[in-house]
Amino acid sequence: MREPDASQPKESACAVETDLLLWWEDFYLPVFEYVLPQMGTLEGKKVLELGTGTGGTATLLAKQGASVVGIDLLPFRLDEAKERANRHKVANAVDFSLMDATQLAFPDNTFDFIISKSVLVFTEHVQTAKECYRVLKPDGKAIFMENMRNHPVVLLYRKLFLKYSRELHYFSLLDIEGIGKEFEEIEHREFHLLSLGALFWKRIIPIPIFYRWTLQFLKLIDKNLLRMFPVLKRFCWITAMICHKKA
Ligand SMILES: C[S@@+](CC[C@H](N)C(=O)[O-])C[C@H]1O[C@@H](n2cnc3c(N)ncnc32)[C@H](O)[C@@H]1O
Repeated sequence: MREPDASQPKESACAVETDLLLWWEDFYLPVFEYVLPQMGTLEGKKVLELGTGTGGTATLLAKQGASVVGIDLLPFRLDEAKERANRHKVANAVDFSLMDATQLAFPDNTFDFIISKSVLVFTEHVQTAKECYRVLKPDGKAIFMENMRNHPVVLLYRKLFLKYSRELHYFSLLDIEGIGKEFEEIEHREFHLLSLGALFWKRIIPIPIFYRWTLQFLKLIDKNLLRMFPVLKRFCWITAMICHKKA
């Protein structure tokens, strides 16, 4: 796994407004801090967001200078996304369109970047990856932030409370490998093993300061644990894949 390129401008690319990460923002923040520097300066770049939902990521990227197309299958989500882009004064930099991520209506070699968050679990992974490869420009990158399958607590939560989760295809390390085969290069990083334990102080006994401290502490433990025992990656909650279409 490669570390982000030190030559890339990180400061502006890392300016993540947490209200734009929509839900679970504390947990997605480190994921965005990993993926955004890999996109470098976004000024003048064309970005496609798959499954944009209410348009948080699309708006975030448009505010950093990208020209963004957000697609989704749900018209009411797209209306909410348009409103969000309007509120953030980037409506002229974002187009929202009703479209299926597995059948993209764009010519080959259109986008510099493609990004998605919690979307491929709903779609046929490999078909989606193939479409992304097709519409990416040479040297473009597709960035998929997805939910993994085997975190024991998340697994239990899904079984008990998320009936629809049975229909979804959560990621295993093998699935990540499958996505990688559609591109010349892939790197990926996994997040949140023990850090979910911090939710105790948010959901069960809400004490914000204990929550923040525990989250920081457990994130640090996770980082070291995963470095020492990479085999534990399969039990993480989130994976971020950076897929490169080589020039
Ligand atoms: C869990 S939501 C995530 C929304 C957004 N990416 C976010 O992080 O807030 C998944 C979104 O993917 C959309 N979606 C599911 N299957 C899709 C497909 N085949 N093509 C485009 N969008 C899809 C859903 O309509 C939904 O808005």
